[in-house]
Amino acid sequence: MDRNDWAQEFRERYERHGDELKWLYMELYHGNEQAYSYFVEMLCRAYAARSETLCALDRERLEQPDWYKGRGLVGMQMYVSAFAGTLAGARKKLDYVADCGVNYLHLMPLLESPAGRSDGGYAVSDFRTVQPELGTMDDLAALADDCHKRGIAVCLDFVMNHTSEDHEWARRARAGEREYQDRYFFYDNWDVPRQFEKTVPQVFPTTAPGNFSWCAEAGKVVMTTFYPYQWDLNYSNPVVFNDMTENMLYLCNRGVDIIRLDATPYIWKELGTSCRNLPQVHTLVRMMRMVCEIVCPGTLLLGEIVMEPSKVVPYFGTVEKPECHLLYNVTTMASTWHTVATRDVRLLKDQLAKVFALPREYTFLNYLRCHDDIGWGLDYPFLENFGAAEVAHKKFLNDYFTGRWIGSPARGELYNDDARLGDARLCGTTASLCGLETARHEKRRGKIDEALRRDVMLHAYMFTLSGIPVLYSGDEIAQENDYTYHDDPLKADDSRWLHRGDMDWDAAARRGDPESVEGRLFGALRRLETLRAAHRVFDASADTWLLDTGSDHVLGVGRFARGEMLLAYFNFGDAPCELRPNEDSALTDLLSGETYEPRTALTLPAGGFLWLGRDYGGEEDA
Ligand code: GLC
Repeated sequence: MDRNDWAQEFRERYERHGDELKWLYMELYHGNEQAYSYFVEMLCRAYAARSETLCALDRERLEQPDWYKGRGLVGMQMYVSAFAGTLAGARKKLDYVADCGVNYLHLMPLLESPAGRSDGGYAVSDFRTVQPELGTMDDLAALADDCHKRGIAVCLDFVMNHTSEDHEWARRARAGEREYQDRYFFYDNWDVPRQFEKTVPQVFPTTAPGNFSWCAEAGKVVMTTFYPYQWDLNYSNPVVFNDMTENMLYLCNRGVDIIRLDATPYIWKELGTSCRNLPQVHTLVRMMRMVCEIVCPGTLLLGEIVMEPSKVVPYFGTVEKPECHLLYNVTTMASTWHTVATRDVRLLKDQLAKVFALPREYTFLNYLRCHDDIGWGLDYPFLENFGAAEVAHKKFLNDYFTGRWIGSPARGELYNDDARLGDARLCGTTASLCGLETARHEKRRGKIDEALRRDVMLHAYMFTLSGIPVLYSGDEIAQENDYTYHDDPLKADDSRWLHRGDMDWDAAARRGDPESVEGRLFGALRRLETLRAAHRVFDASADTWLLDTGSDHVLGVGRFARGEMLLAYFNFGDAPCELRPNEDSALTDLLSGETYEPRTALTLPAGGFLWLGRDYGGEEDA
């Protein structure tokens, strides 16, 4: 393509990033000019193929680059199959999504993926085709379009670390085509794989041990970090990066607003390392960010970095050279459940202090649970100060949340119980982990109230944090664990299906009934969302700090933005707690509207929370 034919807009954007992009590309791919010019032409093609409607949305968002940082966004993630059967079905249920106050919809993997070897859709066999049971690419584009008309942004996974063994590249590699074997990591024998195994940890130690699999047809060993049917792509081959970037842009051009970069830390492998978070991963992500800014600048990159805190934040990049727009607040999530089990807020305070110290430009997705297990990636050196040793503490948490711990109302199941390391993770819906399932089963009214209170408090706490709160579909109506997966041979091995059950529409129909459990939770969450959207103090630009509550059971968070202050308290303990906010002026309970004079003693019930606000008078939204 002749450079002169490029659209002016594309050219300007390319010129802004071209030097850095080329520099990084050449460095990674040893000066491969040919590969780079193919890459740039591909970007140009993708730009040319972008619809005028999406280009207009890009321009609109460029005018308001902080569009996703506002306090008005509420996310929800869901499997389309579990929510509505098909993409067309999901279009019909958008009223419900809107009713939930949701304007960010994460549709779990929906591209073609072999039944029974799909890892919940995370083994993609064709990046350009939707799973036939769910519909077509056109249905996806139509759903995205409907969402946009309602002001809902759409997030989709881009599973870039691996393909399914059924992907065309994998089939051709298996048939012996060298060019395609070079897109993966193939070895003639186990010598190199064995060396890798010395330094690379395992992702699925029980369900899929080891990082390599024998490919009988090719007579070779292939790298499979996740399941044996998920073949790791070799990003040191520029063809892989070029073609996968093209696949990503194809999804962006179908109207996807947020690309979730699945398993980001794993995309570069190097012998003798852990094959996690290597510097080249950051180069690749930075290049992808620039690609989006050139081709589809309205698109956001969400990194899935389920790692210890020090490894997560670098994926934001720097203010001058950003990488991901959004990251999961994973350590905070795990620390929250630790706090639920221990009733002790000290670890959570320490974790939040670290988050509060980060630049406000960094936007986190806050969540209580997602489609995956909860891994106990906590700050163990900190916990050791209190005598909690890692293995024993993980055992306690797992015992607590599986209900084995005496007195625990929680119901969950273990995930990848690695007896060798004592390292099991945990599955369960928010309601079941909060004890609602047990309480309803036992039909104990007081226990139901208690569990609901805890569930609402956890959501209120999530809504208190800066960033985008994301609910898992069904959690808004207190959906419980789904044990039917045990009877499905295609799912029985993977306990994550416990918390990915089908949407219970009968239960959802009760959401307007203030007497029902569904209605009580749904109503409470809607109220919180509305307050969050209405109050400037929830802006991401807010100052945030921890309050001294005088109790290790009670978390206190302060916020101040644009003339508004919030003092938020969350009682994780088992007993009511008396609070006396140390303020000179009156505070108003945002939920009840009641105003308290300075130093009034307030009682916070076990599992209760308070949002106390004070308006010093600041500018309203423009
Ligand atoms: C991510 C997904 C998880 C999947 C894995 C492999 O971690 O969240 O569900 O198993 O990637 O693709």
